[in-house]
Amino acid sequence: MLLNAEDFRREARRLLPRFVFDYVDGAADDGCCLRRNARDLDAVTLTPRVLRDTSRIDTAVEVFGTKWSSPYGIAPTGLNGLVRPRGDVMLARAAARAGIPFALSTASNMRLEDVRAAAPESIQWMQLYVMHKEMAARIVQRAQRAGYQALVLTVDVPVSGNRELDVRNGFRVPFKPTAKLGWDLVTHPRWSMRAAISGPPDFANLVADGEDGGSASMQAALLARAMDRTLVWETLAWLREFWRGPLLLKGLLHADDARLAIDHGVDGLIVSNHGGRQLDAAPSAISALPSVVAAVAGRVPVFMDSGVRRGTHVAKAISLGATAVLLGRPLLYGLAARGEAGVDAVLKLFADEFMRTMALLGASSIADLRGDSLACEGGPTDAGVASRVST
Ligand SMILES: Cc1cc2nc3c(=O)[nH]c(=O)nc-3n(C[C@H](O)[C@H](O)[C@H](O)COP(=O)(O)O)c2cc1C
Repeated sequence: MLLNAEDFRREARRLLPRFVFDYVDGAADDGCCLRRNARDLDAVTLTPRVLRDTSRIDTAVEVFGTKWSSPYGIAPTGLNGLVRPRGDVMLARAAARAGIPFALSTASNMRLEDVRAAAPESIQWMQLYVMHKEMAARIVQRAQRAGYQALVLTVDVPVSGNRELDVRNGFRVPFKPTAKLGWDLVTHPRWSMRAAISGPPDFANLVADGEDGGSASMQAALLARAMDRTLVWETLAWLREFWRGPLLLKGLLHADDARLAIDHGVDGLIVSNHGGRQLDAAPSAISALPSVVAAVAGRVPVFMDSGVRRGTHVAKAISLGATAVLLGRPLLYGLAARGEAGVDAVLKLFADEFMRTMALLGASSIADLRGDSLACEGGPTDAGVASRVST
């Protein structure tokens, strides 16, 4: 039975080749940050209020003038095509059906225009990695033309995190067959059959129109460029030349960076440690959230991701000041387990769990969750955990 996100994780582990599952599920170094995300989210408690009318519960939030049916969206993840061919479109369509946003990664396996066209009525954000300024400017201009509603600049990847599982599994791009990988493929025939039919996933956004993006050597060359590490706060002004909509920064954990972001005209922040995939010493996102929210003081919306696995986790982040959260791995587990229907199923789990949590808390609107009466007790707001929050 697939009753929760962890059940979908186990199903994904069963169905995906080891190297794919580890790529999705894995984290940096020793996995400390990954575990911290889970531990700190679990440690927060919410105190329910009783004898309140919850016969009609409204879970909607408004973000940048657009209504979301629930206070969560789908986080940008690269290489979705490795989990399922056309995974990017499956996630985008499922998000559209659920009335929530989908963020497309720069490292998607489908062209951003094609993903937009597959769910034209939906809320779609474009995530940006700046590997090369010229290439980034081109992607941003294409996203603007295609109708993406917000741009998310990810700022926690000056270099890639140390993912030892990928190294041990011999997983790299371009894909180089080894005996170990061969055995992995043979023992996961359903995944291998699909992959054989669709061919290896391309980084479809990284090549200019008309260029051939399919060749392994070209992909390797593009990725080997790594990130542009000359990126600084002043670079945001350069981005604004190409992007006219809301600009969000993803991967902030420090209150001073939140203040700087606002000084530089950013429209929204995503408190995130990349799901524990970057700096293993980073604080959990939920423990960093209150200090960022305090620094922002309501001037722009603050989102959070990293470790959200339950409807209660969504409620905890909101009660600590987040406007909404983003969901990463749980949807990839759903995609791996049942394709597009699996993404729908995981989103339904979150919707049901969140609705039940609201009722149990005596909250009939998102505003109720933010009220003082539901203030968290324990967890990151406790002195013990607060001392870990860097300011
Ligand atoms: C397989 C995978 C690929 C990811 N790729 C990207 C990416 O391309 N761009 C980005 O900004 N974040 C990327 N992330 C980070 C997610 O956007 C998000 O911050 C993280 O998954 C949230 O943590 P969670 O998986 O615990 O929910 C990726 C995460 C995973 C698991």
